[in-house]
Amino acid sequence: MAISKNVKLPHLFYGGDYNPEQWPEEVWKDDMRLMKKAGVNIVSIGIFSWAALQPGPDKYDFAWMDRLMDLLAENGIMADLATATASPPAWLARLHPESLPVDENGARYAQGSRQHYCPNSKAFRLYGQRLVRMLAERYKDHPALAMWHINNEYACHISRCFCDECTLEFRNWLQKRYGTLDELNARWGTNFWSQKYYEWEEIGLPGKTPTYANPGQQLDYMRFMSDSLLDAYLGEYRILREITPELPIMTNLMGAHKPLDQFEWAKHMDVITWDSYPEPTGGIPVFAAMQHDLMRGLKGGQPFILMEQVTSQVNWRQQNPLKRPGVMRLWSYQTVAHGGDGVMFFQWRQSKAGAEKFHGAMVTHTGDENSRVYREVEQLGLELQRLDALIESRVEAQVAIVFDWHNWWALELDSKPSRDVLYLEQVKQYYKALFEHNVGVDFVQPDADLSGYKLVLAPALYMVAPGVQANLESFVQGGGTLLTTFFSGIVDENDRLHLGGYPAPLRKVLGICVEEFDPMLPGQTNGIAVEGLGEADGQYSCSLWADLIKLEGARSLASFTSDFFAGSPAVTEHAFGKGRAYYVGTQAEAAFTKSLIGRILADLELQAPLQAPEGVELTVRRAADGERYVFALNHNAAAAQLTLPEGAYTDLLSGSSFNGSLELAANGVVILQRQG
Ligand code: GAL
Repeated sequence: MAISKNVKLPHLFYGGDYNPEQWPEEVWKDDMRLMKKAGVNIVSIGIFSWAALQPGPDKYDFAWMDRLMDLLAENGIMADLATATASPPAWLARLHPESLPVDENGARYAQGSRQHYCPNSKAFRLYGQRLVRMLAERYKDHPALAMWHINNEYACHISRCFCDECTLEFRNWLQKRYGTLDELNARWGTNFWSQKYYEWEEIGLPGKTPTYANPGQQLDYMRFMSDSLLDAYLGEYRILREITPELPIMTNLMGAHKPLDQFEWAKHMDVITWDSYPEPTGGIPVFAAMQHDLMRGLKGGQPFILMEQVTSQVNWRQQNPLKRPGVMRLWSYQTVAHGGDGVMFFQWRQSKAGAEKFHGAMVTHTGDENSRVYREVEQLGLELQRLDALIESRVEAQVAIVFDWHNWWALELDSKPSRDVLYLEQVKQYYKALFEHNVGVDFVQPDADLSGYKLVLAPALYMVAPGVQANLESFVQGGGTLLTTFFSGIVDENDRLHLGGYPAPLRKVLGICVEEFDPMLPGQTNGIAVEGLGEADGQYSCSLWADLIKLEGARSLASFTSDFFAGSPAVTEHAFGKGRAYYVGTQAEAAFTKSLIGRILADLELQAPLQAPEGVELTVRRAADGERYVFALNHNAAAAQLTLPEGAYTDLLSGSSFNGSLELAANGVVILQRQG
């Protein structure tokens, strides 16, 4: 099997987390049989094996891992080998209690669960990296070794630590970032509330404070924690890169996960992998799709791998219903439809003991191939082998959503006009409208090259950091269409105001000035009257926020219907250079957002690849040879009728041909390629 830094397997990745140290070795042989039968070609091993690999500070046991690696190689199954640092052994906590993280109240976390380490702990890093070096030296030439899996889901449980080692490191981090205390004081605005620092040693972590801590400090602390975890990752990464320069290295991310600036992390990953556990209510299928797109965006559209999902049910929500028959398959194809080159699970065999014994797996507690779950796993594994043509193809998108972790952190700090303005919720609304129109969406950073897109949305872009104003202006100047929304363009990268009328850095491109804003109380609504938008014209309700907008060249598309600002603009459009910029100064009901987006898409001649009823999701992947593959996924409980564009089409999954139209069963999927 050829494996390069870009990770190549002969088929799409298929497999899961494999924890054979929980089972007697006789079971391993049956695991191999069942894996092969289901088309498994790669498994993640060693993720929680530190204690099994290193029983004491100077004692190692690699014999079982040797046998496991050999067994995988004999069976033609590749290993995504983990560095085992995700859960330190008990002896580390005994010898180095300071390696355990500390919460904001100063209490130390206990050993006995997992992820109980401070990322800045010298002992954790020393022992962890020593083990990583031994693993890399031992298995570097092993035929089963396909790629490295560093640690596991960084910041899943512990994203902040307030220990003494972190305090010292925070000061070093700040010194590197700002050079002098004068600069730091200016960036943090410490003339407020007598917060000025005269010595570096006076600076602490924003732990327990009587009321709001300094926002600049809070924001930098979030950056610092993301960087500290990344630095712990890089400590292992450098060892692996040195010993196995050709092998791909990554860690599994968690989708729209707030603590880590994942665009920054992605620079140090050869392939993006992530774990998807969509909420059974509200998250499906839109939010899952959005996160796939976000993860694909981290490396500029390069295909990603779904490292974990569950076959049937998780064990960590209040109630954990089963995925209905066909749903696991449908969501797996949603992954591929959004640029996934692999579909994997947590985990292979359902545990007998421990905190995850009720978490679903590919092989359930029946222990054999006769369960419903295994049969679905087998069907999917064999089907995926027919999709080699998709490997490394790219998702088509002419629309981008700007996404920024620093913006997320700053927007949701305390002491804001409204605590109800949540970044993901704002982004989701606009993503949902695009999703319902079935157009492809990329996620990009605010300073990304936008020239390849016709439409760029930047919802709630509260922070406009240096360079972003010019980037957005030149995009619109050159003919692009931009849409942004209330509470955008408010602060700089240190959460200090951009003065001169909101949204100061975006005023020119938007042709407006917001003099005041009026956050609404829970349950409070206003209305907007829309005129001049064709089909979207009419009255809609709005909530959460109202901007008091003055036009400075823009035209009003909708105005508020009540309160003292009744009749003033709520939604605007501005011709700027060769392009256009839209501003939405409230949270309108979803029907308006969908209509507005529909209207903009129609103006730009952006449309779905075929005609499908509501609830059918469509995406397109394009291969390097120009071949296009149209995915249609029916999320409805009933069959749906699709109208195809001209020509005859083959479904890659069933091999059937279609012309004109086709009926897609409930939970059904087709991947259509045009014939000839
Ligand atoms: C993930 C984690 C896995 C497993 C899984 C259960 O967060 O990486 O190890 O715990 O959740 O859903």
